[in-house]
Amino acid sequence: MIMSRGNMRQRYHFMPQTGWMNDPNGLVYFKGQYHFFYQHYPHAPEWHSMHWGHAVSSDLLHWEYLPLALMPDAWYDKDEEGSCFSGSAIVHESRLYLMYTGSADHGNGIVQTQCMAVSEDGVHFKKFSNNPVITAPPGCDVTLFRDPKIWKYEEHFYVVIGASRDNKAQALLYRSGDLEQWEYVGVLAESRGELGFMWECPDFFPLGDKYVLTFSPMGTGDRKAVYLVGDMDYAQGKFHYHNIGEIDWGMDFYAPQSFAAPDGRRLMVGWANEWDWMPWFKDFGATRQEGWCGSFNLIREVRLNEDNSLSFYPAQEYQQLRHSAAVTRDLTLTQAGREFRAGDGVAYECRIRIDLTRTTASAIQLKLRGNGQEYTRIVFDIRRGEMFFDRSQADGWSRGCSRSPLILPDKEKMEIHIFADQSSIEVFTDGYRTAHSANVYADQEHNSNQIQACDGQLYIEAIESWALKKPWIRRSDRLLSHRKAACLICA
Ligand code: FRU
Repeated sequence: MIMSRGNMRQRYHFMPQTGWMNDPNGLVYFKGQYHFFYQHYPHAPEWHSMHWGHAVSSDLLHWEYLPLALMPDAWYDKDEEGSCFSGSAIVHESRLYLMYTGSADHGNGIVQTQCMAVSEDGVHFKKFSNNPVITAPPGCDVTLFRDPKIWKYEEHFYVVIGASRDNKAQALLYRSGDLEQWEYVGVLAESRGELGFMWECPDFFPLGDKYVLTFSPMGTGDRKAVYLVGDMDYAQGKFHYHNIGEIDWGMDFYAPQSFAAPDGRRLMVGWANEWDWMPWFKDFGATRQEGWCGSFNLIREVRLNEDNSLSFYPAQEYQQLRHSAAVTRDLTLTQAGREFRAGDGVAYECRIRIDLTRTTASAIQLKLRGNGQEYTRIVFDIRRGEMFFDRSQADGWSRGCSRSPLILPDKEKMEIHIFADQSSIEVFTDGYRTAHSANVYADQEHNSNQIQACDGQLYIEAIESWALKKPWIRRSDRLLSHRKAACLICA
């Protein structure tokens, strides 16, 4: 069994034990454990025929890897350039059901269909004998029909699927009474062109008295993970939305999926990478030589604000990883700025509280994970109401700058919340309405973190920081009993 080693492996973000990972799949709480599945190629750190990797946790921090849940071995999901694509999970009558896209080429191009598998023990899955259970409706592009997200409402199961018709994205709705037979309901929501030609990984869930539809649009430039907030009309099978927003503006947040925690929280996980620059443009990434590629972003809790915007809070579980707390209060900073202590400067959490009423600076600049020459630059332009995340001088490899509005909903106070890990930086502000997540492949010597004011004074009420412990991750003995999976991972 090979476990990838390497200096760039994340310390507390979820990642595969080896090989390639992309989208989160089938996130679910089943029989006392959280189950995370993921798009996975176990043989190499490259995207290839897709399997479903699988891990379980009782606290969302400590993970046990399990045998591969789905492997490409059926006529509808066996293809070097396709296979078991993204999907979701549902618990019904003490069984765990997976619904995923089979992507295969039978000689006439790619055909995508929706398929199901079931498990009694949450470890071994059996594909349905009547797969595929859903095929693309007439008029829809069969090469762009994927990523089913399943849920139950009253007496029925529902699924939303990403689709494309006349080069415009659609979220299609299906319904079933027994998970075996599915009927087409209609178009839940669609793009008029302004929201792209395909919505990858749609997700749909209730939040407060509203419903939320999220997706990753194709064909909208930098826009990577969108949410719509509105009302669901089950009688008509229509979602009427009246608010739109960005889940994360950063360069590495894609294909998020949500799930309900047993305490009622709506948690969301994204893939901390991005197709536009990964993988083919950059030779499968800076971590290829370490035998792995891909991790999940920080798990976030989704909350509905009064104005029907959404906030995305780091899951409270991460607080258990905190140690070596440090706090500095009442600082007035100028252009010269200052270094702040945060764990070992590499993997840490930091909260900065600013009093805007006593601040004259036009902008705040952070230089994170620096080594003297290189650093990741994050700018909060208070005067213009903009935020920038620039990693073009971060590590000699990464490129790009993400930008977003800075809303400053509370005009008197501003809070910046940072989570840095070995290969990523995630920054939250605006009451967790605005986030930028990006990967940064900086080494251990990139451990200096600074804050400074631009054109004026910056009044900081407090800088609080913590080192974050590395939770254990283990391989299960159960892997050994699953011959086929163990062989694949050993290969
Ligand atoms: C999104 C996606 C999905 C697809 C999967 C394939 O990142 O393109 O639409 O199911 O990845 O790995």
